[in-house]
Amino acid sequence: MMNAYTLKAPAKINLLLEIIGDRPDGFHELVMVLQSISLADVVELQYLGGDRIQLHCNHPQVPCDQTNLAHRAARLMQKQFPGKGGVAITIDKKIPIGAGLAGGSADAAAVLVGLDLMWNLGLTQTELQSYAAQLGSDIPFCISGGTALALGRGEELTPLPDLDQLYAVLAKYRSLSVATPWAYQTYRQQFSAAYARDSIALERRRREGHSVALLGAITHRDPLQVPQYLYNDLEKVVLPQYPQVQHLRDQLQALGVLGSMMSGSGPTVFGLTETRSQAEQIALQLQTALPDPDLEILVTKFCSSGIQLL
Ligand code: C5P
Repeated sequence: MMNAYTLKAPAKINLLLEIIGDRPDGFHELVMVLQSISLADVVELQYLGGDRIQLHCNHPQVPCDQTNLAHRAARLMQKQFPGKGGVAITIDKKIPIGAGLAGGSADAAAVLVGLDLMWNLGLTQTELQSYAAQLGSDIPFCISGGTALALGRGEELTPLPDLDQLYAVLAKYRSLSVATPWAYQTYRQQFSAAYARDSIALERRRREGHSVALLGAITHRDPLQVPQYLYNDLEKVVLPQYPQVQHLRDQLQALGVLGSMMSGSGPTVFGLTETRSQAEQIALQLQTALPDPDLEILVTKFCSSGIQLL
């Protein structure tokens, strides 16, 4: 048995997030198109005897106790496979936190994949993804990554053709984070009258909603059409609450990106370009237009992989 593994855990952006109904479990029925990007945390796992779980992270705002999703992932695996041992987890944080980029979910996905390897369990992707779904809605996607359609809570995944030729300029105010439960609850308060009420209406919304045009562009391998069909229902509640995020999105659009959108529940916004040099130029122009040390701007590329062994 090898006793140390280093894994790369990519962030995701939502090319589409459509809320179509309520679920009996209190979550929402979603239609999402998720995309992995080159921005990634690095997660190192080291074998420990007994059943200890230790967690270290170089970011001061990341909790290192049992509330951390990566810690919860290790605990879940120990419960499923008792007697396999403990683990020391070290997270090198590159993905901004509370950003709508699934940073915490990516770390948890890396722990599931890494412990499967360390403990020689031979779990299938489906088995790993069902453990992942118990921990959070975005974690199954973080395991397989790439470009995918996500239905249900976000855990019913269908892989889509790779879009890895596009670039995304990410922009986020460091001091700002949005609580995902707040965003969904506020959406429910304002828009639940329009939710699909039964399985037939849900199916119709899946087939006839905003995803149709985007899925068409992706399946016809027409990446330059993709930026026209970006969509996110949560913008309706987050942008009015955070005018500076709306302003950031407007600025990106004005600088000539192919399309811009907020990712997940925000507050990160992204703008898409065809080449790295366009993305770098737009990042520079955005920095000049909004010279604020609190503003973090990152140039990333779409990527086709989820958790990877380094
Ligand atoms: O599953 P995850 O921990 O990512 O969800 C965070 C919160 O987002 C949930 O507590 C819920 O309020 C909201 N959510 C939802 N419907 C989904 C996914 C998330 O209402 N499908």
